Amino acid sequence: MDKFSQSLAKGDLEKLLEQAIEAREFSYSPYSNYKVGAALLTREGQVYKGCNIESASFTPSVCAERTAIFKAVSEGYRDFVAIAVATSNGGSPCGVCRQMMREFAPNLTVIVGDTAGNYQILTLPELLPHSFGPENLPR
Ligand code: THU
Repeated sequence: MDKFSQSLAKGDLEKLLEQAIEAREFSYSPYSNYKVGAALLTREGQVYKGCNIESASFTPSVCAERTAIFKAVSEGYRDFVAIAVATSNGGSPCGVCRQMMREFAPNLTVIVGDTAGNYQILTLPELLPHSFGPENLPR
């Protein structure tokens, strides 16, 4: 089985990207003017959407991917199948977000797309090889 057919049909991934494009509309990014949307699919089938939210003091800003992850985890969902990320130009998730994806879903499928609907299907091990995770900490 190749990485694209892990259990998600192409149509499901494209639907998830559509939801990330929708989420991007709520981006609060007056400083960077770079809008990002994310849509996170849980094993149970819910989709949590997120956008980037910036602050005038910059540091407290949060990325779209982590907004979506925090929304899901704070409502009791931690088992994730895929995340779609939408930007104007197909930008890839930042390192901090990759690490947070790794916390909950080491084999996550990551759809990196743009607002025109172009996309790439990647996996978290491709984006974050030789990663550090919870099992590396002594109990
Ligand atoms: N951003 C995201 O939302 N996700 C990423 O993975 C990359 C960067 C946001 C953070 C900031 O609001 C803006 O994009 C420019 O860096």
